[in-house]
Amino acid sequence: MSAAEYRTGLGWDVHRTGPGRPLVLGGVSVPAEFGLEGHSDADVLAHAITDAILGAAALGDIGMHFPDTDPRWKGADSLIFLRHALGLASQRGYELVSVDSTVILERPKLKDYRTPIREKLASTLELPLDCVSVKFKTAEKVGPVGEGRSAEAQAIVTLRRTCEPAVP
Ligand code: C5P
Ligand code: MG
Repeated sequence: MSAAEYRTGLGWDVHRTGPGRPLVLGGVSVPAEFGLEGHSDADVLAHAITDAILGAAALGDIGMHFPDTDPRWKGADSLIFLRHALGLASQRGYELVSVDSTVILERPKLKDYRTPIREKLASTLELPLDCVSVKFKTAEKVGPVGEGRSAEAQAIVTLRRTCEPAVP
């Protein structure tokens, strides 16, 4: 039986907020009085999209490929993870078709950063801008995200089969 022509992958991530940390979303630094804690640059959006790509290709999850105990990834630019996931999917014979995502963060307001984030992700993922969607939500002051203690991101991607896998 031949492999499916289209595959869908789901990604989710959460990071605590913390003082003296950068707030990086989709590779874009957003000015804020706090940032996100984590081993890498804690780019919660890049992590969710990375997991969605890995998931669509059934290649495990981000922690399998980039353990947070590995000193190489301390402070790492998470776009590295995203490019790596894309490369692995490509080796499996899949190309990325589209990305939809949501960042859930109580503050700051992110809407002015939508275009820069979409542009950064589109260039990293080698996609046209109109195939990259980034949405923002508050958590209506409810729960850890609503109380400003954490940020979450969700992503869904579609992969299209291009050829037989280069690796089994
Ligand atoms: O969460 P809520 O539905 O109230 O969000 C309303 C609007 O605020 C959304 O359109 C969203 O784009 C924007 N927003 C934002 N920055 C956030 C959260 C939401 O710009 N941190
Ligand atoms: Mg993460």
